[in-house]
Amino acid sequence: MTEQQIKQRAREILEKMTLEEKIGQVSQFPYRDMTVEEMQAFIREKKPGSLILCNSPLGGQVEQQEVNLDEINLLQKAAMESCGIPLVCGRDVIHGHHVAFPVPLTMTASWDFDLIRESYDAIREEAINDGVKWTFTPMLDMCREPRWGRIVEGTGEDPYLGECFAKAAVKGFQTENPADERAMFACAKHYIGYGASEGGRDYNHTEISEYSLQNYYLPAFRAAVDSGVATVMSAFNDINGIPASGNKKTLTDILRGQLGFEGFVVSDWGAVEQMADFAGFAEDHRDAVRIALSAGVDLDMANGLYSDHIPSLLESGELTEEQLDTAVLHLLETKLRHGLFDHPYIERRAYDSEKHLQLAQTLAEKSIVLLKNENNVLPLSKDAKICVSGEMATATTDLVGTWALDYDKSLSHSVLQVLRDKVGAYTVRAEAAYKHSLREDPDAYVVVLGDTLGVTGEATALADIRISEKQLSVVRMLKRTGKPIIGVFCFARPMVFGEEEYLFDAILYAGHGGSRAAQAIAAVLFGEAEPEGRLPFTLMYHQGQLPLYYNSLPGSRQINEYYHDVNPMHANYSDCHGSPLYPFGYGLAYTTFDYSAVSCDVTEKTVADMENGETFRFAVTVKNIGARVGVAVPQLYVWDMVGSRIRPLRVLRNFRKLSLLPGEQQTVQFEVGKKDLGFYLEDGTFIVEKGDFKIFVGENCQTENKIEIMLT
Ligand code: NOJ
Repeated sequence: MTEQQIKQRAREILEKMTLEEKIGQVSQFPYRDMTVEEMQAFIREKKPGSLILCNSPLGGQVEQQEVNLDEINLLQKAAMESCGIPLVCGRDVIHGHHVAFPVPLTMTASWDFDLIRESYDAIREEAINDGVKWTFTPMLDMCREPRWGRIVEGTGEDPYLGECFAKAAVKGFQTENPADERAMFACAKHYIGYGASEGGRDYNHTEISEYSLQNYYLPAFRAAVDSGVATVMSAFNDINGIPASGNKKTLTDILRGQLGFEGFVVSDWGAVEQMADFAGFAEDHRDAVRIALSAGVDLDMANGLYSDHIPSLLESGELTEEQLDTAVLHLLETKLRHGLFDHPYIERRAYDSEKHLQLAQTLAEKSIVLLKNENNVLPLSKDAKICVSGEMATATTDLVGTWALDYDKSLSHSVLQVLRDKVGAYTVRAEAAYKHSLREDPDAYVVVLGDTLGVTGEATALADIRISEKQLSVVRMLKRTGKPIIGVFCFARPMVFGEEEYLFDAILYAGHGGSRAAQAIAAVLFGEAEPEGRLPFTLMYHQGQLPLYYNSLPGSRQINEYYHDVNPMHANYSDCHGSPLYPFGYGLAYTTFDYSAVSCDVTEKTVADMENGETFRFAVTVKNIGARVGVAVPQLYVWDMVGSRIRPLRVLRNFRKLSLLPGEQQTVQFEVGKKDLGFYLEDGTFIVEKGDFKIFVGENCQTENKIEIMLT
């Protein structure tokens, strides 16, 4: 169907709908505490447009009932028979279904978005088979606040990686043909600014300037909309005093007007009622419904508030039927566009779960970041005698990550188990380590540290993001043995460990890696897989440096210490330096690479050339100068040196992943055009300005390998 046919068909359906059916269409209810028969009766009575297959809003923390395809098809039957409009049934399928893949922040560290797309494609195959047509993924909240528990659900501090992730996840779930019966609806969330919650306190207030909104927070959503994302979820937070779920400017003027979104908007669970219950933005629930629907929230998640209050709001004239029709049309058009009317029922099909497990392991391996490797302690030799220790050495489900509602628990193993099977590793109580090591000397200690599920995900903000002394005390004791210590960091957020970094000879930042986290860690420890992850966030030296992020502005008087060491007399802090422990984009390999100087075809063009689609071409040759194969990740950053708005010192605009044999070299070419050199003004206009630009290509954001170009 063409867009025009979709719009016309939706109108025809709307015209035949009763008021009751229209109100039902914009209402969603949870499928819980009812038998199938009771739920069918409920559907016949209320005629909802959607069901949420969760029994509580904290789906990432609280056990959820299982999903069952046969039941969902029976519920669909009730909807089709009662009003002929299919239900769309949603559930959080965030980083896996039966097989769990790494959590989004961890998978982003792979910088491998083809593999991420392929992974979401596999996840879709599993979820659709259980009747889940709609997922509340991707989470696109740009975040510079590691105290926020939900940082783990997104892609970190960089808008460009957010864009890449948005495209990959939307394509993976919605497939090349979103109207296909096996395609799902994706949902870009949480619109917008949720990642800026003050102090990292969940659900908190945000202050976001229009310039920041356009250039930092919106890009990933723009990419999702451009990729055809079916739905968008409005967030809990307020932006400069206006709730995101009652914000006409962001929901209608920007999302539909500027970004061109055509699907439907669902509120987050409780986001409408909380405008009255907590925020003091609405008088009561009825008033909150008026505000939300008028602002552009088409469907109220789970609470049935729309169905309770729209009738009286229409009667009093506080809402018009035209406003209701607009929301109903958004739902109908999305359902038509995504083939739901043609394929309301889902068929069970076989899939290869072994293949999915392998894919999950590959992605987990590629997501591990090697931060430190003194004296080439890693990779370990298979003959080495390894002692495994640390609070997370025996963790299994904790390594999988938050928001894994349906994963098969029997699939996950601990690092200790895997290393025991692989190389006969053993473990020892840290207290006994010193004594023990005199008797049975290990060649190295692998110490697994990390976050349990209790401190990651929704409503799990931490005030202290240093590694706890309890976890570190083990390391301090082992340090006394004088043996190499390899830290495996299974943290779900960027932790602070500047003062303790010296305790470790090598560090692997593994995050929460899904069903095959432990196997992936083992593969990288022994060099069966090369470490190829790169940090999608900044690791701070001290938590008092918060916030510290790579795409920061030069500052008005002081030198930005992210990029320059300064004389202590002029430093940002008198008691701590201002630079990070490890910068954005950082990650080592088991080999080393040499980068040639950046070259460019021409160094000068006009703004008009850019407007006409011309590009600059940059080239860099990367050579593997070590003795092993390895993966280099050349990254291209732009600095617009003088602008009508102060521009960040670095903006990531492109990167490649190159697997290079020892001695091998490859030349990579990057095209840089208007989109890479320009920026958004406060009103959403995109501009490119005259002036000098520095283009950096190197191993991470602190590279000094650069060339200057000019736009006249
Ligand atoms: C609340 C969360 O904020 C959101 O991310 C999730 O999709 C919904 N609950 C549904 O579970």
